[in-house]
Amino acid sequence: MQTELPDSAEQAKEEHADLSAQLHHHAYLYHALDRPEISDAEYDQILQRLLLLEDNYPELITSDSPSQRIGAAPVEGFTQAQHSKPMLSLENAFNESDLREFDNRLKRFLASSKDIEYLCEMKLDGVAVALTYQHGRLVRGATRGDGITGEEITENIRTIGAIPLQLQNKAPTRMEVRGEVYMELEPFRRMNQLRREEGEVSFANPRNATAGSLRQLDPRVTAKRPLTINCYGVGELSGRQPETHFQLLESLRRWGLKVNLELLRVVPDIEEVLACYQDMLQQREALPFEIDGMVVKVNSLALQQELGEKSRTPRWAIACKFPPRQEQTILEDVRLQVGRTGAITPVAHLRPVTVGGVTVSRASLHNWDEIDRLGIRIGDTVIVERAGDVIPDIVKVLTERRSGQEKEIVEPNHCPACNSPVSRSEGEVVPRCHGLSCPARLKESLKHFVSRGAMDIEGMGDRVIDQLLRLNMVSSVADIYKLTKEDFFRFERMGETLAEKLLGAIEQSKQRPLEKFLFGLGIRHVGSHLAKILSRQFGSLDALQRAEIAELQSIHEVGPQVAKSVQAFFADEHNLAVLQQLKELGLNPQTASRARGQGLLGKTFVFTGSLEQFTRSEGQTLVEQQGGRASGSVSKKTDYLVAGANAGSKLTKAQSLNVTILSEEEFLALLEGVKEEP
Ligand code: IVH
Repeated sequence: MQTELPDSAEQAKEEHADLSAQLHHHAYLYHALDRPEISDAEYDQILQRLLLLEDNYPELITSDSPSQRIGAAPVEGFTQAQHSKPMLSLENAFNESDLREFDNRLKRFLASSKDIEYLCEMKLDGVAVALTYQHGRLVRGATRGDGITGEEITENIRTIGAIPLQLQNKAPTRMEVRGEVYMELEPFRRMNQLRREEGEVSFANPRNATAGSLRQLDPRVTAKRPLTINCYGVGELSGRQPETHFQLLESLRRWGLKVNLELLRVVPDIEEVLACYQDMLQQREALPFEIDGMVVKVNSLALQQELGEKSRTPRWAIACKFPPRQEQTILEDVRLQVGRTGAITPVAHLRPVTVGGVTVSRASLHNWDEIDRLGIRIGDTVIVERAGDVIPDIVKVLTERRSGQEKEIVEPNHCPACNSPVSRSEGEVVPRCHGLSCPARLKESLKHFVSRGAMDIEGMGDRVIDQLLRLNMVSSVADIYKLTKEDFFRFERMGETLAEKLLGAIEQSKQRPLEKFLFGLGIRHVGSHLAKILSRQFGSLDALQRAEIAELQSIHEVGPQVAKSVQAFFADEHNLAVLQQLKELGLNPQTASRARGQGLLGKTFVFTGSLEQFTRSEGQTLVEQQGGRASGSVSKKTDYLVAGANAGSKLTKAQSLNVTILSEEEFLALLEGVKEEP
């Protein structure tokens, strides 16, 4: 990233406005239109530059700056938020005849037998929010509460990338948008998996996770949760009014709000509504998020008006619930699982039962607090539910079914794998094994190290790792790199070709960049995202190892917990010995972007005007890849100004300072001339 600061506050302001506009625009392309034009890394680079400016010129920080996504300072509590119009809830339909009755009721009310045009939307399972925009700026975010007053959670709302801080395309002066904040299944599962590995409580379902995330007093915590939104209506809307609900949703999308338009249908009558319900039920399993039903709305806003509302629900809409994916079964056993960080978690083994078409034989019990909360015992009759997580959940114990033979589930005081004593520290919900040579921990660490997101050693699956452990061939990740062909021949069913392939994959993994290596080490609290940040910041393992707590904490997104964990990792003799061995075996991972050419070493570039062949941040990356520097403003130190069309003050300044001006083509030609493959 370019680190040079602008020459004056005036220039900083200009550059800041430019970066903000770029970030708002790219967020719109990404979230509302699902048509990104730059990569996440490029977005991040622009954001980092903006943060640097804000660090140096704090007066540039406004509440709708893209930097506010990272989360403002914690609050003591939430204040109340009055809704402009009540946030209503929906009446439920449970079957076909309820839906037909709904249609008949509306026709009776309107005293008309004419078919009614409906809009069928998915009913997402999350948390309802109201977002207030004034002059296109997000000024308030609130929960539904009792429908009249909710809680003001603006700072948390600002951290959600899919919620625009500024609207686009001539948005109305005043508007209150309503939508459902939710989590998609993949990120939810990833988050839960990570939480389990880190010994934190996993969430029972995406809805609970969403509710918990929105009610955080520290917005920086909310910022880390994979929240998104689907907007489905408005409370208040100034200016020109649309004619149909569908038009309204189209406008919301145009203004930059996220609306799942592709997933809704406008249908001419109730028969088609019924068909649509069947379709959605079918689609349910394949969707990237949980839906708990379908919402049917009268499409014409004039008709909606005419139909009006009852005390808490509108007459013009109804929710058709999907059957819950729950079944009854028996908890046959609880087994203990040891993760790579030593966290010991209980896993429920169930009498197999089919839930929504999937056979379930295990469920997550999360931790001992959850066991206490459920009051569950081995032998109990329980209700299991599949709701989002791959691992189903036990939602209820039918205590009235007890025979008296049920057994209590006791928290262990010894590790089930290595028998070393375990302890549960304050604030933790699971006990941990600290045994350095614990086979269960070793197995999980090896699996993590070779996994796709880490060192990505192809062919090194669970089966291979199990055999390596059984034959006592590895006692740390370093041992993987000492394996020979002869070692593999001791495996069952291992031929020459396969052994060579595995050795090739192991050798190849030595080239993985630092971020993958760091992630693979399995340092507590350092997931793939933080590994990337640390790698980018330090560039090498040695530099990271030398980092002081304060230096670590000065990095955005690195809190005291992470900093402490990184230090503790590098203070551990055992870890240091393994790292030393890895080094001697030829692993010396570097940050990808630091392995670069030198052709532009010492040269400073500034980009200005509208560029056509590459984006500004792509240009900056190209310069940095060849050892050069990219800056946001022209000064005496600038060597080249790359100017696109409509270049303004920067061009004038560069001319006055006799800086070499390049067109896009000239820049690319210059780059070709100096290029060394990074
Ligand atoms: S419309 C007046 N549309 O379901 C209309 N609600 O019980 C009120 N929900 O509180 C809501 N997806 O949290 C509507 N496409 C959708 C929805 C939806 C989910 C939630 C919302 C609301 C609850 C209604």
